[in-house]
Amino acid sequence: MTIGTEEELAGLLAVGGIVAQTLRHMGGRLEPGITTKELDVIGAKLLEDEGAESAPAISVGFPGATCISVNNQIAHGIPSARRVEAGDLVNIDVSARKDGFFADCGATFLVPPTTEAQRGLCRTTRKALNRSIKAVKAGAPMNAIGRTIERVARQRGYTVIRNLHSHGVGSALHEEPNIPPYQDRQDRRRLHEGMVFTIEPFLSTGAEWAEESGDGWTLMTPPEYLTAQYEHSLVVTRSGAIVLTR
Ligand code: CO
Ligand code: CO
Repeated sequence: MTIGTEEELAGLLAVGGIVAQTLRHMGGRLEPGITTKELDVIGAKLLEDEGAESAPAISVGFPGATCISVNNQIAHGIPSARRVEAGDLVNIDVSARKDGFFADCGATFLVPPTTEAQRGLCRTTRKALNRSIKAVKAGAPMNAIGRTIERVARQRGYTVIRNLHSHGVGSALHEEPNIPPYQDRQDRRRLHEGMVFTIEPFLSTGAEWAEESGDGWTLMTPPEYLTAQYEHSLVVTRSGAIVLTR
């Protein structure tokens, strides 16, 4: 959506704060032995306590309140009886609606003992997100986002998952624009004031495509690769981005 009023910004900041807090809290509860379903129930309760509804549940009938993806599951993992183990890389993605406004955020967490390969991937993926947020400003080319993500990834020898894109958000979970994580030189779109969208780079130790698994939801890569994602929702202003999900 594109916003034009302080009320709309306040509504987005409110739901953005709720999903960010839920994500942080769920990350803090990760430990060996907890099931992804137990973790999801913690998130569902936090959303409910804040008067928010799970966006994937209401928008697409996702069988869970949040998406929890372990190791080579990289997105849209269904909360289940799977137990988190020491050494796992776990992505949690939380999106919700409150008072008609949607926000979406995600992060990858490491369950100790961690490896330098895991830490380096997470560090660089966070950097790709933070750098690309700095490319956001009214009037800037939209493809500066993908160019920045791709450049940060390549500098450290990582690939980007090319078929998982950042997206408009605000009045629905997924809306226009669709923003690829690489530079498309044909893309002449520009950012304009009030636009609301996510930036969510997926960086990998070698995979370039997310593939659907048999359950109809979970996206995976081949097991030899590690993949991380960090996601914020933001609003474009004349001086930069307002991050809704800090
Ligand atoms: Co998300
Ligand atoms: Co998203």
